[in-house]
Amino acid sequence: MTRDARRKIVVGVTGASGAPYAQRLISLLAAHPGVELACVLSTTAEEVWELECGGHPRDLGVRTWGGRDYGAPFASGSAGWHAMAIVPCSMGTAGRIAGGVSESLLTRAADVMLKERRTLVVVPREMPLSTIHLRNLLTLAEAGATVIPAAPGFYGKPAGIADLVDAVVARVLDHLGVEHDLGHRWGEGPR
Ligand SMILES: Cc1cc2nc3c(=O)[nH]c(=O)nc-3n(C[C@H](O)[C@H](O)[C@H](O)COP(=O)(O)O)c2cc1C
Repeated sequence: MTRDARRKIVVGVTGASGAPYAQRLISLLAAHPGVELACVLSTTAEEVWELECGGHPRDLGVRTWGGRDYGAPFASGSAGWHAMAIVPCSMGTAGRIAGGVSESLLTRAADVMLKERRTLVVVPREMPLSTIHLRNLLTLAEAGATVIPAAPGFYGKPAGIADLVDAVVARVLDHLGVEHDLGHRWGEGPR
Protein backbone atom coordinates (compact mmCIF):
# COMPACT_ATOMS: atom_id res chain seq x y z
CA MET A 1 0.00 0.00 0.00
CA THR A 2 2.77 2.48 0.95
CA ARG A 3 6.58 2.30 1.04
CA ASP A 4 6.79 3.88 4.53
CA ALA A 5 6.84 0.99 7.01
CA ARG A 6 5.17 3.06 9.72
CA ARG A 7 1.46 2.58 10.37
CA LYS A 8 -0.36 5.73 9.25
CA ILE A 9 -3.08 6.57 11.73
CA VAL A 10 -5.42 9.52 11.90
CA VAL A 11 -7.19 10.47 15.11
CA GLY A 12 -10.42 12.42 14.74
CA VAL A 13 -11.63 14.39 17.75
CA THR A 14 -15.22 15.64 17.95
CA GLY A 15 -17.19 17.76 20.38
CA ALA A 16 -18.47 14.90 22.55
CA SER A 17 -17.33 14.83 26.14
CA GLY A 18 -14.24 12.66 26.64
CA ALA A 19 -11.31 14.77 25.41
CA PRO A 20 -9.03 13.09 28.01
CA TYR A 21 -9.38 9.84 26.05
CA ALA A 22 -8.19 11.63 22.92
CA GLN A 23 -5.40 13.40 24.79
CA ARG A 24 -4.02 10.10 26.09
CA LEU A 25 -4.39 8.30 22.76
CA ILE A 26 -2.71 11.10 20.79
CA SER A 27 0.16 11.34 23.31
CA LEU A 28 0.86 7.61 23.05
CA LEU A 29 0.63 7.46 19.26
CA ALA A 30 2.78 10.56 18.83
CA ALA A 31 5.55 8.89 20.84
CA HIS A 32 5.29 5.56 19.01
CA PRO A 33 8.17 5.02 16.55
CA GLY A 34 6.06 2.75 14.39
CA VAL A 35 3.27 5.26 13.85
CA GLU A 36 2.84 8.27 11.59
CA LEU A 37 0.11 10.33 13.23
CA ALA A 38 -2.23 13.06 12.07
CA CYS A 39 -5.16 14.62 13.91
CA VAL A 40 -8.32 16.24 12.66
CA LEU A 41 -10.64 18.22 14.87
CA SER A 42 -14.20 19.37 14.61
CA THR A 43 -14.87 22.97 15.58
CA THR A 44 -16.65 21.95 18.78
CA ALA A 45 -13.81 19.58 19.68
CA GLU A 46 -11.53 22.53 20.34
CA GLU A 47 -14.08 24.02 22.74
CA VAL A 48 -14.62 20.77 24.66
CA TRP A 49 -10.87 20.01 24.75
CA GLU A 50 -10.21 23.44 26.27
CA LEU A 51 -12.92 22.80 28.88
CA GLU A 52 -11.89 19.25 29.80
CA CYS A 53 -8.11 19.19 29.28
CA GLY A 54 -7.06 22.82 28.88
CA GLY A 55 -5.10 24.02 25.87
CA HIS A 56 -5.31 22.52 22.40
CA PRO A 57 -4.26 19.19 20.84
CA ARG A 58 -1.51 20.95 18.91
CA ASP A 59 0.15 21.54 22.31
CA LEU A 60 1.03 17.83 22.12
CA GLY A 61 3.25 18.56 19.14
CA VAL A 62 1.14 16.76 16.56
CA ARG A 63 0.02 17.99 13.18
CA THR A 64 -3.64 18.99 13.45
CA TRP A 65 -5.91 19.59 10.49
CA GLY A 66 -9.03 21.71 10.40
CA GLY A 67 -12.46 20.68 9.25
CA ARG A 68 -12.28 22.16 5.75
CA ASP A 69 -8.72 21.19 4.85
CA TYR A 70 -9.32 18.55 2.20
CA GLY A 71 -5.66 18.87 1.20
CA ALA A 72 -4.86 16.49 4.06
CA PRO A 73 -3.48 13.21 2.67
CA PHE A 74 -5.97 11.04 4.54
CA ALA A 75 -8.84 12.76 2.69
CA SER A 76 -8.17 10.33 -0.17
CA GLY A 77 -7.93 6.57 -0.24
CA SER A 78 -5.00 6.78 -2.63
CA ALA A 79 -2.70 8.08 0.13
CA GLY A 80 -2.87 4.70 1.84
CA TRP A 81 -3.58 5.69 5.43
CA HIS A 82 -4.18 2.52 7.40
CA ALA A 83 -6.53 3.36 10.23
CA MET A 84 -8.62 6.03 11.91
CA ALA A 85 -9.99 6.37 15.43
CA ILE A 86 -12.68 8.91 16.28
CA VAL A 87 -12.22 9.64 19.97
CA PRO A 88 -14.58 10.76 21.37
CA CYS A 89 -17.29 10.51 18.73
CA SER A 90 -20.36 12.73 19.08
CA MET A 91 -23.76 11.48 18.05
CA GLY A 92 -23.80 14.20 15.42
CA THR A 93 -20.63 12.89 13.80
CA ALA A 94 -21.79 9.27 14.11
CA GLY A 95 -25.00 10.22 12.32
CA ARG A 96 -23.21 12.10 9.56
CA ILE A 97 -20.83 9.21 8.88
CA ALA A 98 -23.68 6.68 8.98
CA GLY A 99 -25.56 8.85 6.48
CA GLY A 100 -22.57 9.24 4.18
CA VAL A 101 -22.51 13.00 4.77
CA SER A 102 -18.84 13.84 4.25
CA GLU A 103 -19.19 17.56 4.84
CA SER A 104 -15.96 17.94 6.81
CA LEU A 105 -12.44 16.54 6.65
CA LEU A 106 -13.18 14.38 9.70
CA THR A 107 -16.29 12.72 8.24
CA ARG A 108 -14.65 12.45 4.82
CA ALA A 109 -11.66 10.65 6.37
CA ALA A 110 -14.02 8.20 8.10
CA ASP A 111 -15.88 7.67 4.83
CA VAL A 112 -12.55 6.88 3.13
CA MET A 113 -11.68 4.27 5.77
CA LEU A 114 -15.02 2.53 5.26
CA LYS A 115 -14.97 2.59 1.46
CA GLU A 116 -11.38 1.33 1.37
CA ARG A 117 -12.22 -1.42 3.88
CA ARG A 118 -9.59 -0.15 6.29
CA THR A 119 -9.78 0.19 10.06
CA LEU A 120 -12.24 2.66 11.54
CA VAL A 121 -12.64 2.73 15.33
CA VAL A 122 -15.44 4.85 16.75
CA VAL A 123 -15.64 5.73 20.45
CA PRO A 124 -19.14 7.15 21.01
CA ARG A 125 -20.04 9.11 24.14
CA GLU A 126 -23.61 9.94 25.00
CA MET A 127 -26.20 8.90 27.56
CA PRO A 128 -28.87 7.81 27.22
CA LEU A 129 -28.83 6.69 23.61
CA SER A 130 -31.87 7.36 21.43
CA THR A 131 -33.05 4.85 18.86
CA ILE A 132 -31.57 7.17 16.23
CA HIS A 133 -28.15 6.98 17.92
CA LEU A 134 -28.39 3.21 18.22
CA ARG A 135 -29.39 2.79 14.57
CA ASN A 136 -26.54 5.01 13.42
CA LEU A 137 -24.01 3.05 15.49
CA LEU A 138 -25.39 -0.21 14.09
CA THR A 139 -25.02 1.19 10.57
CA LEU A 140 -21.38 2.04 11.29
CA ALA A 141 -20.73 -1.45 12.67
CA GLU A 142 -22.41 -3.04 9.65
CA ALA A 143 -20.24 -0.91 7.36
CA GLY A 144 -17.12 -2.28 9.03
CA ALA A 145 -16.38 0.13 11.87
CA THR A 146 -15.49 -1.09 15.33
CA VAL A 147 -17.62 0.62 17.95
CA ILE A 148 -15.85 0.93 21.31
CA PRO A 149 -18.08 2.84 23.72
CA ALA A 150 -16.37 5.15 26.18
CA ALA A 151 -17.37 2.74 28.95
CA PRO A 152 -14.34 1.40 30.86
CA GLY A 153 -14.60 -1.81 32.84
CA PHE A 154 -13.96 -1.94 36.57
CA TYR A 155 -12.60 -5.51 36.85
CA GLY A 156 -9.06 -4.16 36.49
CA LYS A 157 -9.58 -2.26 39.77
CA PRO A 158 -8.82 1.24 38.45
CA ALA A 159 -7.05 3.47 40.97
CA GLY A 160 -8.38 6.66 39.45
CA ILE A 161 -9.40 8.57 36.35
CA ALA A 162 -6.12 7.88 34.55
CA ASP A 163 -6.71 4.12 34.81
CA LEU A 164 -10.26 4.50 33.53
CA VAL A 165 -9.02 6.51 30.57
CA ASP A 166 -6.33 3.91 29.88
CA ALA A 167 -8.89 1.09 29.96
CA VAL A 168 -10.66 2.64 26.97
CA VAL A 169 -7.50 3.77 25.17
CA ALA A 170 -6.02 0.26 25.50
CA ARG A 171 -8.93 -1.24 23.57
CA VAL A 172 -8.65 1.48 20.91
CA LEU A 173 -4.93 0.73 20.48
CA ASP A 174 -5.68 -2.99 20.24
CA HIS A 175 -8.07 -2.36 17.36
CA LEU A 176 -5.72 0.10 15.65
CA GLY A 177 -3.11 -2.66 15.63
CA VAL A 178 -0.68 -0.74 17.85
CA GLU A 179 1.25 -2.57 20.57
CA HIS A 180 1.03 -1.14 24.08
CA ASP A 181 1.38 -2.06 27.74
CA LEU A 182 -1.59 -0.19 29.11
CA GLY A 183 -3.89 -1.63 31.68
CA HIS A 184 -4.65 -5.12 32.81
CA ARG A 185 -5.46 -7.96 30.44
CA TRP A 186 -7.83 -10.55 31.79
CA GLY A 187 -6.01 -13.73 32.73
CA GLU A 188 -2.55 -12.13 32.78
CA GLY A 189 -1.23 -12.05 36.33
CA PRO A 190 -2.85 -11.12 39.65
CA ARG A 191 -4.43 -7.76 40.40
C1 LIG B 1 -19.18 20.53 26.94
C2 LIG B 1 -19.91 19.79 25.86
C3 LIG B 1 -20.08 18.43 25.99
C4 LIG B 1 -20.76 17.71 25.00
N1 LIG B 1 -20.87 16.35 25.16
C5 LIG B 1 -21.45 15.64 24.17
C6 LIG B 1 -21.46 14.21 24.24
O1 LIG B 1 -20.99 13.61 25.20
N2 LIG B 1 -21.99 13.54 23.20
C7 LIG B 1 -22.50 14.16 22.09
O2 LIG B 1 -22.95 13.46 21.18
N3 LIG B 1 -22.50 15.52 22.01
C8 LIG B 1 -21.98 16.27 23.00
N4 LIG B 1 -21.95 17.63 22.91
C9 LIG B 1 -22.61 18.28 21.77
C10 LIG B 1 -21.74 18.30 20.54
O3 LIG B 1 -20.55 19.01 20.77
C11 LIG B 1 -22.53 18.96 19.40
O4 LIG B 1 -23.63 18.14 19.03
C12 LIG B 1 -21.67 19.25 18.19
O5 LIG B 1 -22.47 19.85 17.18
C13 LIG B 1 -21.05 17.99 17.63
O6 LIG B 1 -20.36 18.35 16.45
P1 LIG B 1 -19.07 17.54 15.99
O7 LIG B 1 -19.45 16.13 15.99
O8 LIG B 1 -18.78 18.11 14.64
O9 LIG B 1 -17.99 17.88 16.99
C14 LIG B 1 -21.28 18.38 23.88
C15 LIG B 1 -21.10 19.75 23.76
C16 LIG B 1 -20.43 20.45 24.74
C17 LIG B 1 -20.22 21.93 24.57
